[in-house]
Amino acid sequence: MVAVSACSSGTGGGESDQPDKVEVFSWWDGPGESEGYSALIAYFKQQNANVQFINASVAGGAGTNARAVLASRLDANDPPDSYQIHAGLELASDVRAGKVEDLAYLYERNGWLDKFPRALLDAVTVDGKIYAVPVAIHRSNLLWYNPATLRAAGIARPPGTWAEFLADATTLKAKNLTALSIGPGWTQKHLLENVLLGELGAERYTGLWNGRTTWRSAEVTAAVETFRRVMDVSDLETYGGDWQSALDKVVAGTAAYTVMGDWADAYFGRAKGLRFTADYDVVVSPGTAGVFNFLSDTFTLPKGAPHRAAAESWLTACGSPEGQDAFSVQKRAIAARVDADKSKYNDYLTTAMAAWQDPATVVVGSLTHGVVADTERNSQLDTALAALVGGGDVAAFVASVAAMFG
Ligand code: GAL
Repeated sequence: MVAVSACSSGTGGGESDQPDKVEVFSWWDGPGESEGYSALIAYFKQQNANVQFINASVAGGAGTNARAVLASRLDANDPPDSYQIHAGLELASDVRAGKVEDLAYLYERNGWLDKFPRALLDAVTVDGKIYAVPVAIHRSNLLWYNPATLRAAGIARPPGTWAEFLADATTLKAKNLTALSIGPGWTQKHLLENVLLGELGAERYTGLWNGRTTWRSAEVTAAVETFRRVMDVSDLETYGGDWQSALDKVVAGTAAYTVMGDWADAYFGRAKGLRFTADYDVVVSPGTAGVFNFLSDTFTLPKGAPHRAAAESWLTACGSPEGQDAFSVQKRAIAARVDADKSKYNDYLTTAMAAWQDPATVVVGSLTHGVVADTERNSQLDTALAALVGGGDVAAFVASVAAMFG
């Protein structure tokens, strides 16, 4: 255990006793994620040649494995120097539990206060203090497909509604093709949020998480029934691996569609070397035209970080325009900063950036990726969803989620 001395900067937490090292904890260890993360690390190393970078990543999409490992480290008072977390209520959970430090001084020091969109700053602010540095913005509501598979099945265009999707599923079944490939529990929740969004619309979707939309309505039950029908035409019985394996089936042409965030573009285009629009393509998930279901990856300064000065250098690299562009172009995200170099964001990212910046776009927050629900409610929802997907009934699922969200 590294000794933590009292802080002299007045910002709380540990002071650096070994400024030549930084241990950063994330879950970006797999293909389609490590490329972007490596680019950010390379930029950090270039700026901080004297600091040894310790990559403490724990693989597993959406941080499901990493978060468990991190929680036990924090409980054991063994924090890394910085860790990845989602902006929104997931971060707020750690703030309320006293795990992370206020970083407002870093924003002031680096002149960042007007460099991030207001809504994003709000998502990393709790009670007027800023607790994380966002590196990028991702979009959750996307339907990826292989154009050759659609052509072979005689499907002219991807579906615009979940009803059209289910009609496609019948066509695909007749050709012995799976309509939807799915992965582990978190990918099922990712699908659920986007079916709810598509079926209920942006306003009622947001209300599901802030108490303004009651779960106890015929419309919500119908949307959950639609989710169940969509799951019924997926490969749930035979899936294996993580989100990348679900994409592999789209590449192979055995499944037509998958719903996944825009890091899928990094897997198809970077890890697999496929050509955007020719070998794989994307539309917004059914029923979500004009809506951007967002999430943001951020890094924090945990209380008692053993190498505080180096952690500040890391966070400074994360918040810099160069670091953000290096990361996001490879990770296939949009830089969180408003002054990103647009010319670097091509192919899929051209449309993502245009949608994000279009004032007509309606922005909502992701459930699965921590924006709209805190850690505790998200994990209760995981339990309820596992029961539903495992054969439980829709009424029981809706009742248990209603007990949490109203
Ligand atoms: C999200 C994360 C993304 C991507 C994805 C798959 O939660 O914000 O950056 O890594 O999980 O792991």
